[in-house]
Amino acid sequence: MKITFFSAKPYDKESFLHANEAYGFEFEFFETELSAPTVEMVQSSEVVCAFVNDKLNRQVLEALAVKGVKMIALRCAGFNNLDIEAARELGIRVCRVPAYSPEAVAEHALAMVMALNRKTHKAYNRVREQNFSLQGLLGFNLYQKTVGVIGTGNIGKAFCRMMLGMGCNVLAFDLIADKNLEAEGVVFLPLIMLLQQSDIISLHCPLNEQTTHLIDKQTIPFMKRGVMIINTGRGKLIDTKDAIDALKTGHIGYLGIDVYEQEEKLFFKDLSTHIIQDDMIQRLMSFPNVLVTAHQAFFTKEALEQIAAVTLDSIATLNKGEQPATKGALVV
Ligand code: NAI
Repeated sequence: MKITFFSAKPYDKESFLHANEAYGFEFEFFETELSAPTVEMVQSSEVVCAFVNDKLNRQVLEALAVKGVKMIALRCAGFNNLDIEAARELGIRVCRVPAYSPEAVAEHALAMVMALNRKTHKAYNRVREQNFSLQGLLGFNLYQKTVGVIGTGNIGKAFCRMMLGMGCNVLAFDLIADKNLEAEGVVFLPLIMLLQQSDIISLHCPLNEQTTHLIDKQTIPFMKRGVMIINTGRGKLIDTKDAIDALKTGHIGYLGIDVYEQEEKLFFKDLSTHIIQDDMIQRLMSFPNVLVTAHQAFFTKEALEQIAAVTLDSIATLNKGEQPATKGALVV
């Protein structure tokens, strides 16, 4: 069986080729993104393997169905880029990798907290220019600070435990309170109370209708002045324009984002010789208290190995007409 990969980078090829030693599927890799114009590249392939910024809207799914594609394997956890209803109607099975390494993402969120607080990104550049002054690098102790975690699924849980380990008071908001986390000391609160009490807020919920622009000009005023916001979830959880306004007034004191509303045009590409047309990301990157990484939270050796193994296992089991062994892997 042939699997056509979109948005495939050299590291994807390496991990999938290695995992495929146990399966022997035929692979075709394309570095380009999947979108209406690139569907044509799919040739004699029943399976398409896609990533976070590939377009899986109705138009693309219909074109894929015409090409004979029967299965889409998302090599990521989130599936906000998929029209679930259209996939169901077209009889296309969709699987994902629900939890390849929650710790990889949670550790990156923690790295962002630490870097923003202790200004490591600035210290690195400063020392390289033989400027050994500490002026402007003042941080704060994380110990006993209040951290609010929105979404306590696989990643949110791992992040809560890391912050408990740092000696923080951990508050959480989710649709359902997690009894184990509560027993470990995490306090579940309504969203507004979490926003009011947190020194640091980290977003780990999925992007959907309820969570789109969860952080915007309606919710920011509830937060403490100087709050730190970390987003390793999805870009649209934050209204970027409202966040920029709040950074300008100082209401948001620090912002760490691994995801961005309009990342499709930017992330995973080397644009170092291009003129960036997106003024919002340029404004964001001009703030000294904003740290942007390009959707790299998942990017560890362990996570890549797990992504490839779970994806190929789900494809093989679905192909046999069985349910994927990984809980939550089947989307449609
Ligand atoms: P998960 O499905 O295990 O957990 C999501 C949690 O959010 C669940 O507990 C759910 O009840 C909760 N939730 C749903 N709607 C909510 C709402 N309206 N308000 C508050 N909580 C809500 O997902 P997981 O694996 O923890 O991933 C979370 C998100 O992280 C993914 O949806 C994805 O968008 C993002 N992600 C980002 C990566 C990166 O590299 N930056 C990598 C992997 C995931």
